[in-house]
Amino acid sequence: MPKPLVQLVVAYSDNHVIGRDNALPWRLPADLAHFKRVTLGQPIVMGRNTWESLGRPLPGRPNLVISRNAQYQANGATVYPTLDAALAASQNAERICIIGGEQIFRHALDIADEVVATEVHAHIEGDTFFPPMDMAAWRETERLPQPEENGYSFDFVTYKRRATQQQA
Ligand SMILES: NC(=O)c1ccc[n+]([C@@H]2O[C@H](COP(=O)([O-])OP(=O)(O)OC[C@H]3O[C@@H](n4cnc5c(N)ncnc54)[C@H](OP(=O)(O)O)[C@@H]3O)[C@@H](O)[C@H]2O)c1
Repeated sequence: MPKPLVQLVVAYSDNHVIGRDNALPWRLPADLAHFKRVTLGQPIVMGRNTWESLGRPLPGRPNLVISRNAQYQANGATVYPTLDAALAASQNAERICIIGGEQIFRHALDIADEVVATEVHAHIEGDTFFPPMDMAAWRETERLPQPEENGYSFDFVTYKRRATQQQA
């Protein structure tokens, strides 16, 4: 069976902000609809803070939460002690969607195959960030500019990991 494709699904501003006060710093319904299209039917893997910011499991997708607290209970989700354990539990999936937040993206960027990014063209105040991407390792394969919403313009962008010497 082929290994699932590992995707990071993220929305970040020009200065790479993803969150503020454990919430999203913008309201972009078209981005939420895009997020749903990308993730529906696939396992979504998230850190405990992101889980708490959602406040409920997202329907139609297995919800996997990562926490070091072995006692942590997440109603409607399964809790794993590490990212690796969550990935190992999802090997039957076609894709695994890692949906944040900052701590989880920092672990996962090295092992992801794709980044499905919403690039919000604004400088935003925030407290959590998407890590910088080394463009020697990634190539942009798609960019779809979206109509402005709530004063924000944004693009849906796909980055794929470049093939290494051994893979090529
Ligand atoms: N714009 C976007 O695309 C997007 C997406 C997702 C989230 N966000 C935003 O990002 C912010 C949350 O990000 P965050 O960095 O604060 O939190 P996070 O990554 O969602 O969760 C952090 C928690 O995950 C667990 N964890 C992290 N690394 C671990 C490891 N190596 N092993 C085991 N458990 C580990 C820990 O839980 P325990 O403390 O329980 O051990 C840690 O406190 C919010 O503002 C949210 O709205 C934005």
